[in-house]
Amino acid sequence: MGRIVVSSHPLIRHKVTLLRDHTTESRKFRDLIREITILLAYEATADLRLTPLTVQTPLAEAQGEELTERIGLVPVLRAGLGMVNGIWELMPQAEVWHIGLYRDEKTLQPVEYYNRLPEKSTVQVCLVLDPMLATGGSAAATVDILKRWGAGRIKYLGIIGAPEGVRTLSEAHPDVEIYLAALDKRLTPEPQKPGDPPRGFILPGLGDAGDRQFGTG
Ligand code: PRP
Repeated sequence: MGRIVVSSHPLIRHKVTLLRDHTTESRKFRDLIREITILLAYEATADLRLTPLTVQTPLAEAQGEELTERIGLVPVLRAGLGMVNGIWELMPQAEVWHIGLYRDEKTLQPVEYYNRLPEKSTVQVCLVLDPMLATGGSAAATVDILKRWGAGRIKYLGIIGAPEGVRTLSEAHPDVEIYLAALDKRLTPEPQKPGDPPRGFILPGLGDAGDRQFGTG
């Protein structure tokens, strides 16, 4: 299994609780996704490489560093979109490459519908952004795409994961570090009676992250 980091930071725990609350409205939900992503990114970028750089302060020369690697942010459409802007503020030089996948409701398999990656990779580090790691099919498929593209190091940043998703992603791609704000109990089973949630949702989770961000639920 690859490295899996589930944050125990009090700020993240507080914000994830608000995110789960079904009374949290769409605007607040988007703010929370953005804020949690910044906190996750702080941890996930701790090993970015630096090269020495000398600058002139108003008083003297100072020895410093600058980021060396080209970084790609890869939001998985659509729910991953809300995770872009916070990280982008931290790393304005990052490139953003969108991957469109949706999960087939019956089979729960990912279906690719958008990919405009150029022929050759342009980045050395990819941060895959998607709030929900449910079965893990979408995450593993995204990493497959990025590896075929030739991306260097790949890290996955999610808000909530299920054990099934963590297992699928880390077995398929043990080299990919997984950063989560919370690891939940399990996925919902096949509905038994009217009113039961659909199969394959994270429990207790937060519902549908795409619908709640975009007000489409
Ligand atoms: C959700 C989520 C992930 C995927 C997770 O997207 O944002 O991409 O499902 O499920 P998995 O781990 O079982 O593959 P969804 O298909 O609902 O599309 P959306 O983001 O467009 O709403």
